[in-house]
Amino acid sequence: MSFRFDFSLADLEKETASLNENAGNNTQTTIPQNSASKIIPSGELFITDLDILPQNLMVERVNFSIKNVELYKRHLSDVKFQIAQDDELEERETDQPSCSSAKILELAAENDVVQGVYEGGLKTWECSIDLVEYLSTIVKDINLTDKKVLELGCGSSLPSIYLLSTEESLHVDFQDYNEQILKLVTIPNILINTILRPQNVDVFYDDITELDVSDENKCLDQLKRSRFFKGDWGDLLDVMKYHDNQEKYDIILSSETIYNADSIPRLYNVVKNVLKRPNGVAYIAAKNIYFGVGGGVLPFRHIVERDNLFKISVVYTASAHVKREILKLTFLDSL
Ligand SMILES: C[S@@+](CC[C@H](N)C(=O)[O-])C[C@H]1O[C@@H](n2cnc3c(N)ncnc32)[C@H](O)[C@@H]1O
Repeated sequence: MSFRFDFSLADLEKETASLNENAGNNTQTTIPQNSASKIIPSGELFITDLDILPQNLMVERVNFSIKNVELYKRHLSDVKFQIAQDDELEERETDQPSCSSAKILELAAENDVVQGVYEGGLKTWECSIDLVEYLSTIVKDINLTDKKVLELGCGSSLPSIYLLSTEESLHVDFQDYNEQILKLVTIPNILINTILRPQNVDVFYDDITELDVSDENKCLDQLKRSRFFKGDWGDLLDVMKYHDNQEKYDIILSSETIYNADSIPRLYNVVKNVLKRPNGVAYIAAKNIYFGVGGGVLPFRHIVERDNLFKISVVYTASAHVKREILKLTFLDSL
């Protein structure tokens, strides 16, 4: 099943009515199987060299409505160029076009999400910009020294990279469904905003600049400070293997990951099991409704409320054609 999330007002009203009808019918927390025919199992990605990246990265500055936030990301044309080159290389070496990244690119051109195959991480979604802007308003009030952060469904990972850019001692881990997204988007964006951060914004030509990735050791040192998880949330806990509360996360961030009603319980199960007790905080940024897939803020809230483990507060609202919110989850027994 594939989805585009742009839709009309009439669609929206129909979807809201059906969501309201369904909310409250379920009385148990269950973790349903993904309805897609195959899911990618969870695993950890270990980065031991930088062969995954080209020598130069094309970088653009991200636009925020808040002036003092400065973040960069890899330009999509550069991702496309690398995929085309890697594909050619593979064709020459094996005589068989291996097209997994190319396939993702092809799918992403037509769809926002292809369930169980490509889950949307190539583009930067609106709520991740909201989350960065919200975090920028509270960052001075939270002590981030040596804290642990996890971004679930990270894609371009701007919210967690924003926190990392404000506090070097932060330990940030990243999870995305697609391994290719971690390699092509997440990892370059970490480097671009830390060890390779542009020193001089004047070097930008046409809003794009080129960064040299030749200092492999420095880049690898930066990346070794993070864990990278790929695949579905369903078996992520088995891969993370956190038994001790101290190993768990002080902050969990997640943007535009609750669009699919089927996968919300699996995402929530990860959040509640790897958030440090009692004072861990999760920020979930999302649209109220995602047409056609049954997800959104209301179904997510419903699952969380039924579990009676967290207090939920809405800390940010953007009124648009489709409303966007940021939910803050804190344990009911937090101090
Ligand atoms: C719509 S994208 C949002 C990407 C990014 N957070 C943003 O806001 O720009 C949804 C992300 O959630 C992740 N995701 C979706 N379904 C998933 C699942 N069942 N298991 C693991 N990750 C999933 C994908 O990795 C994807 O990057």
